[in-house]
Amino acid sequence: MVKVTIDGISIEVEPGTSILNAARQIGGDIVPPAMCYYSKLEGSGGKCRTCLVKVSKGSEKDPRPMPKLVASCRTTVMDGMEVQNITSPEVTEARKGVVEMLLINHPLDCPICDQAGECHLQDLGYEHGAAKTRYEFDRRTFDRIDIGDKIQLHMNRCILCYRCVFTADQITEKRVHGVLNRGDHAEISTYIQKAVDNDFSGNVIDVCPVGALTDRTFRFKNRVWFTKPVEAHRDCEHEKCSGKVTLWYKGEDVLRVTARKDQYGEVEEFICNTCRFDKKKTSDWVIEGPRKVSHKSVISSNHYETLHPLPVVKTNPVLLEANKEQFERETRL
Ligand code: SF4
Ligand code: FES
Repeated sequence: MVKVTIDGISIEVEPGTSILNAARQIGGDIVPPAMCYYSKLEGSGGKCRTCLVKVSKGSEKDPRPMPKLVASCRTTVMDGMEVQNITSPEVTEARKGVVEMLLINHPLDCPICDQAGECHLQDLGYEHGAAKTRYEFDRRTFDRIDIGDKIQLHMNRCILCYRCVFTADQITEKRVHGVLNRGDHAEISTYIQKAVDNDFSGNVIDVCPVGALTDRTFRFKNRVWFTKPVEAHRDCEHEKCSGKVTLWYKGEDVLRVTARKDQYGEVEEFICNTCRFDKKKTSDWVIEGPRKVSHKSVISSNHYETLHPLPVVKTNPVLLEANKEQFERETRL
């Protein structure tokens, strides 16, 4: 085991662990944000730079600090290493710069974007974003593309994190989309607009950290904070599908089905398209109970305790009013 200290908290981890994963083992506020790294996807990380940290002591053997900030998802810990994340003003400043870069082309359309409320870039923008952009040129714009009948790509919002490409590569039989071109011309595309059509294609929606890939069966049906997430499972006939999902209810209707996500917003187990798109009746599922939502999440603004939340909201005018106020506030931005 090797010992690493992050923001003054020490932990012993397996050799070969990245700084990001060591921080996740400690948990809490010291965990750097990650927009492209995804623990379930091999080779992911190293693209977005949101996870930058300062290594103030390289190791016990060589205590020199690292000359530049490093991507914590791609840097492995050394014995005696000391790392600064939230305790370093340099890191906070750099993260602001990274967010500014990510937002150069990304539209600020959170009030109408389907990902709002569960978008990592929205959270980062809220924490580190500047009120105004310094960018004076036109943003890159693209037409929306329907990738098959269930998924829509809105390339304007893509931050080129490659997660969807790795997902298609690693959990489906045949990848038909990727990042075409390089630099300012880089874009996610299917070859000659070929539909991403395989049993697990819907997972690209779940791994996308922004609203670039959205579920066409859910688009504009509701804001996520007005829905009620409930854990459920079914005995899925697809051998690779876990059948463990989150159902997003509005009243009695299941508006969408997603894979379950962990505290870092990563899918716990991937699910097949039948579970995701074709099973939208409560009778299709064995209901386990309400999903635990972090109190920091905007989804928890619609807090509920039981599986029949609607009557509670209806008979609770204060809650109803709070929701209405919040909706008006959000849509005014
Ligand atoms: S479409 Fe989403 S998941 Fe794919 S590269 Fe762009 S931001 Fe990442
Ligand atoms: S999460 Fe480390 S570079 Fe993107």
